[in-house]
Amino acid sequence: MNYLEPELFHYSDTQGTKSFREEIAKFLTDYARAAEALNPEHITVMSGCCAVFATLSTVLCDPCDGYLIPTPCYGGINSKTWLYGGIQPVHVPLFSEVTDEESHPFQLTAEKLEAALQRAKNQGIRVRALILINPHNPLGDIYPAQLLKHCLEFAHRYELHVIMDEIYMLSVYGDATFTSVLSLDCVPDPERTHFMWDFSKDFGMSGIRVGVLYTRNHEIQKAVNQLAVFHGCPGPVQHVLSQFISDRDWLDNVFFPTNKKRLKEAQNILVDGLADVGIPVLKSSGGLYVWADFRKFLKSQTFEAELELWQKLLEEKLLISPGKAFYCYEPGWFRLVFSDSVDKIYLCIQRLEQMLHADATESAANNISSNADALCTLKEGSSGNPSNTPGDDVSQLKNILLYYNHICI
Ligand SMILES: Cc1ncc(COP(=O)(O)O)c(C=O)c1O
Repeated sequence: MNYLEPELFHYSDTQGTKSFREEIAKFLTDYARAAEALNPEHITVMSGCCAVFATLSTVLCDPCDGYLIPTPCYGGINSKTWLYGGIQPVHVPLFSEVTDEESHPFQLTAEKLEAALQRAKNQGIRVRALILINPHNPLGDIYPAQLLKHCLEFAHRYELHVIMDEIYMLSVYGDATFTSVLSLDCVPDPERTHFMWDFSKDFGMSGIRVGVLYTRNHEIQKAVNQLAVFHGCPGPVQHVLSQFISDRDWLDNVFFPTNKKRLKEAQNILVDGLADVGIPVLKSSGGLYVWADFRKFLKSQTFEAELELWQKLLEEKLLISPGKAFYCYEPGWFRLVFSDSVDKIYLCIQRLEQMLHADATESAANNISSNADALCTLKEGSSGNPSNTPGDDVSQLKNILLYYNHICI
């Protein structure tokens, strides 16, 4: 792996070296259980998924066009695509409350996509694409095959491009079955369905900066390849990763089983520890984090209170991302990453317990001394406020994102 031929230091194909694309095609065909073997010619390699997002959205949309994205969602997509392509997000807000036709909190349905698209149309926004993250960040859930098909059919009906972000494709643990878009026998609109994956999450290599786009659309790929010149991967990195993903024996018998086992163990420790301190989490089967419900620890059900809690957590040396950084429409949800040493997870729970216990004692003392008027004032400011949405305080969000970008997962 460490021996580098001199030619690897020359300019290489901006689409990615042929040998690397061939290795990736084989790797994804097998690990995504692709319905048919991937064609290396349909692959473009870039410096990470953010680069893939930026270039693809620039190619697919004109400035001011919109893209649909269910929220909460990975916060980086928003600011980065916006800055580069000048396009705007059209959120599909998901909520924790379960209604009749849903089976779990924050569930996506084709009807919700439809409603968001109509809202955008009424506002005069031309929507060009739908972004789906599967396994989801930050929710950690996996789209059932049926839902995935409904979403693809919805996009096909409205001639929307679909960007499938499957960056956590192999970070699935437990008994869950993951369905990659590449594994579907029949995709409703293959020319408008684009897949992306990279090495950051499934291999814990976010510093190596290598992302992969797979698209069967020749015209789009041609345009993406023009922009890829600004986002290329160094030849030596492509060479090393080719060796790395071709070592199937090690991947199948050592790396993936160990990785999945450790992720599941770490998740169990965190989920159990959170349950002990009274924090429920959304059931998850993929990703490196859990989505946890801190609502009962908010002073009021507002994003101001969420920010206040987040700052308190920081003071206790707990860096836990608040829902607002993921454009969540409901205050009080936080994402906790568990892909770290078990010691740190225990330490996190210990600090949480101390902090929440101290808070409970303090508020009990305050309650005794406070009068009824004060309680009334608190209630009035706590709910039903129309400005209580993730988008209403840009400076707060910037604060969180600034912090979040330093630890982005
Ligand atoms: C869902 C999702 N997509 C894309 C990215 C960006 O990946 P990268 O930093 O490797 O470009 C991330 C990073 O956190 C992510 O969580």
